[in-house]
Amino acid sequence: MEYLRLDGDALTLVFALEAGGSKHGAADCLYLGARLPEGEDLAALAQATARGRHENQPDVPPRPGIWPQHGAGWQGHPAASFRSVTGEAIAADFRLKSWEHDGSVLSCHFSDARAGLEVSTRWAVQDSGVVVCASEGRNMGGEAIRIEHLAALNLPIPHRFGEFTAFSGRWAGEMQETRQAIAPNGLARRSAGGKPGFGGGNWLLLHAGDETLGAHLAWSGDHDTRITCDNAGSANGRAVLQMGEALPEGGAIVPPEGTFGGPPVVLALAPDLSALAQTFHRHLRESVLPERAQWGPRKVHLNSWEALGFNLSEPALIALAEDAASLGIERFVLDDGWFAGRRDDTTSLGDWFVSPDVFPNGLAPLIDRVHALGMDFGLWVEPEMVSPDSDLTRAHPDWCLHIEGRERPTMRGQLALDLAQPEVRDYLFAALDALLRDHAIAYLKWDHNRDLFPSAAGQTEGFYALLDALRAAHPKVEIESCSSGGGRIDFGVLTRTHRVWPSDNNDAIERLRIIPAWSQFLPLEVLGSHVGPSPNPITGRRLSMDFRAKIAVFGHMGVEADPARMSDNERATLAAHIALYKAWRGVLHSGVLWRLAHPDPAVTAMMVTHAEKALTLVAQTALSPVFDTAPMRLAGLEPQALYRVTLPEPWPPKARHYLANPEGWRDGLILSGAALMGHGLALPLTHPETAWLVALERLPQ
Ligand code: GLA
Repeated sequence: MEYLRLDGDALTLVFALEAGGSKHGAADCLYLGARLPEGEDLAALAQATARGRHENQPDVPPRPGIWPQHGAGWQGHPAASFRSVTGEAIAADFRLKSWEHDGSVLSCHFSDARAGLEVSTRWAVQDSGVVVCASEGRNMGGEAIRIEHLAALNLPIPHRFGEFTAFSGRWAGEMQETRQAIAPNGLARRSAGGKPGFGGGNWLLLHAGDETLGAHLAWSGDHDTRITCDNAGSANGRAVLQMGEALPEGGAIVPPEGTFGGPPVVLALAPDLSALAQTFHRHLRESVLPERAQWGPRKVHLNSWEALGFNLSEPALIALAEDAASLGIERFVLDDGWFAGRRDDTTSLGDWFVSPDVFPNGLAPLIDRVHALGMDFGLWVEPEMVSPDSDLTRAHPDWCLHIEGRERPTMRGQLALDLAQPEVRDYLFAALDALLRDHAIAYLKWDHNRDLFPSAAGQTEGFYALLDALRAAHPKVEIESCSSGGGRIDFGVLTRTHRVWPSDNNDAIERLRIIPAWSQFLPLEVLGSHVGPSPNPITGRRLSMDFRAKIAVFGHMGVEADPARMSDNERATLAAHIALYKAWRGVLHSGVLWRLAHPDPAVTAMMVTHAEKALTLVAQTALSPVFDTAPMRLAGLEPQALYRVTLPEPWPPKARHYLANPEGWRDGLILSGAALMGHGLALPLTHPETAWLVALERLPQ
């Protein structure tokens, strides 16, 4: 038995490996936790955690290890499953053959000579602190086989983790959290819509008190996420976390000498939720987001969707653009309805040419006006989809995903194109490339409003190939991943895009749940955060402009409402918050995010620290049971340093009257980090729908 370790700055993984070992855990992860001292005796660590055999267990008690499989008593889900092409199960018996250990990377190679299969699983600790895990293999036999399932990650969960938070959701209600015990039921989640979907099963948190392990499948297709608890049969109490791509029903054929693999899982371990978010954000910024270091300031958007819907015309759009510019907007995004015969959502997807009815002079006059107003121009597209009523369907009725001879059910009146077909991708590339070449388009909102059914092999790869080709041809164009809101958000799409649309729901109260949930994994600069209309079209709720605008500052800010329908006072309030966002985006989009706790469950607060500055958002959504809510305690400050604390104006109209010392808050109170973190700030938060921004500046020592 050999013991070896992988180290990051803050964590250590210890593995026990036995070459040629049997299937009782020949490769195991013994330890995942805070960084161990250099000289730690790993064999002693193994002994300290080893157990003997209990009654009614197999004679060699099975350990799932990092490549769990059946056949020796382990009753959970195997790491991989295979069948012959004609459908007989292959009872694989993988033995650990060899491994490579190179500082922060471990690759373990297993083989089953009889079944003619080789598999490898790789664990790599990255500089950001995350661990990236992936599995792959090869069919060495003389016949094709069918792979049904391959987990990228198989992690024996350290015993101290007793609970997990899973995410679920619906359209306009993404990332709802449920927290439950790991044992005895574990978890089984599988998506089948051809994208991560609103179900959120591609994100997971495991809890050991405050300590949290986060896991994410970096893939824009379907996922299979499981926690298997060993509480039957051998009952050694171990639970295994498995995550990987969900293959379409029936699996995938692997020819002789063919390889198989899948997307990686990204794991992060941290002492608490803030530190976990910070680790994921570091990883995104350093290794995922395209050319992140070269990004300029995230421009304030105005999107036409909730202002005009499908009622588009050149004069109406120019009027909207002029209004937008007067508020300080920097990018004007023309949403759905600009192309072909698309006057509502029943038609024309696939026909990506500018509608001569809506724009008799093309898009140029609008784009020129947008530029003259000092903004750049963005455009909505939904390339992977096709309307049955479209020139594209009439020309190529079989380019959509379908089963020959079966019905072709629609969703939002549309079908999905088969992106595994090169000619479909070529058509889309040519159409989008022409749009981008013929117009000065700085930004694409790339939508995807239908689940993929029937299921489609190669669709996600086709989507990536199309996106990669377009990005190579138009490297300056920024792209947003939207899928009816947050239906396709993952680190796979984020290696190719610059922001995501977290939800179609712009209601600020809903956003106070949705943005903190996404920001557990994603930094604020990629989270589109728009001021919507009041009443909100989805919830019907009316909220003050002050509240809506303050909430929207914490993200990539935009406006998705018609300024012409706002009062002068609302416009002034909105413009003031856009100015605040511009002053603070450097901090919000490069800084360190802190989740702040408050005893009142109706209070939500977040804070970002960066160099000598920090900005905090504190929001109340229900009537406080007491006149004076508990002071808000901050985080992430230097205890001994002094900070000037101000409340940037405009102040919330109702609550401002309760400020005891308005002048003090305007000029700035000088307080130590220790006082701010330990004692906090008593903000007037008695009323529902009140939000404050708190600005901090560290004074020179
Ligand atoms: C989807 C998007 C919306 C909007 C509409 C347009 O629902 O999520 O933001 O772009 O499509 O049809």
